[in-house]
Amino acid sequence: MEQTDQDSVLSLANKVSGLAELQSSHNLVQQEEFIKAIQRLQIAVEGPAHYVARKRHEPMEYAATLLIIDSGVLQALVENGRKPLSAQELAKKTKMEPLLITRCMRILTAIALFDEVGSSTYKSNEISEWLARPGQADGYRLIARWILPISSRIVSLWENNQFTQFPDESKGERNPFIWTFSTTQWEMMRQDPELKRAFDSYMPIRRNGLRVPWHEIYPAATELDVKGFSEPHEPPLLVDVGGNTGYDAASFKGKNPHIKGRCVVQDLPETLASSVAPEAARAYFMKALLHDFDDAESRRLLSNTVKAMSPESSLLIDDWVLPDVGAPVAGGTYDLMMLMLLSGMERSESQWKDLLNSVGLEVKKVWRKDGVGEGVIEAKKR
Ligand SMILES: C[S@@+](CC[C@H](N)C(=O)[O-])C[C@H]1O[C@@H](n2cnc3c(N)ncnc32)[C@H](O)[C@@H]1O
Repeated sequence: MEQTDQDSVLSLANKVSGLAELQSSHNLVQQEEFIKAIQRLQIAVEGPAHYVARKRHEPMEYAATLLIIDSGVLQALVENGRKPLSAQELAKKTKMEPLLITRCMRILTAIALFDEVGSSTYKSNEISEWLARPGQADGYRLIARWILPISSRIVSLWENNQFTQFPDESKGERNPFIWTFSTTQWEMMRQDPELKRAFDSYMPIRRNGLRVPWHEIYPAATELDVKGFSEPHEPPLLVDVGGNTGYDAASFKGKNPHIKGRCVVQDLPETLASSVAPEAARAYFMKALLHDFDDAESRRLLSNTVKAMSPESSLLIDDWVLPDVGAPVAGGTYDLMMLMLLSGMERSESQWKDLLNSVGLEVKKVWRKDGVGEGVIEAKKR
């Protein structure tokens, strides 16, 4: 290592150690800042050759994880309660060959998904236990089913000018999902109940442990607690547009039993018996809905909501609000995922303002908890 690299390793290590000291003395250290400092240190220590090789081999980590999930090895180890099991014992419980278990677990213990306690002998840890929770494995399956095949074709689509960010269907343009699968994401789920089950099982839990719910970011208890709203009378308190099976509305009501008023959930007919947007609700809530659509389609959806809104209604959008500089990697990967699946996009604060302005809405405030990333945008009719 060159002297200047050594210096930078030292200064990065000092930064990490300073943040660790702050955290242990119960000072509030932003987790994001701490992780970024550790990652910068790791990259400085490993150097470019190791860094690039590590990234290049991530697909094999993914494949090993999928095999261990779907063969039942993950479940068997977690059910064994942090007691060791050998590859032979796991093979008897799962019918996966012992040698293949050892080959996959070589990778997965090195990346800390399981603990290796001896030769071909493993036990679960808190990461494997998290992955075994309901819905988590479905997240892996959905990425494997949708994102991996599109990723492997993305360059050839782009080279053949088939990869348009905002395709115009009337000109025969298609998004990467349709080029790859000859159908849409929603149609594929209509034809495949197991895929739809995986989607509906993953949606409610995908932010667990990552972030507090929207009604703790947006002070719903004070902002939405309005006199004059009583159950079961009209108009509703909150309409969750694209609310899937209704877990967000249920969690909001569960945590705020004192706030009176009905919550209405709207979604596609196969998810819910769909309903027409009720008028003059106190709030219309859209979580991870508009990121599914380009601006033209978002405007169409928003215009329907704007028609139903009264001057007192708020529109609450729970989505990524990306900073122009220093966006977290998860915001960037979500953005590219939305492009691949639906020609959708994650938006920056100025992009949100332009979009909402164009349908007669004005952003009142962007509510955030900590750091940069996701937030709740509150808008009203202009
Ligand atoms: C990414 S999911 C988000 C679900 C939920 N809001 C959440 O954040 O967990 C998008 C949801 O929008 C629904 N959806 C798609 N197109 C829609 C439309 N035109 N109107 C209403 N809902 C729609 C889908 O069925 C799906 O449940």
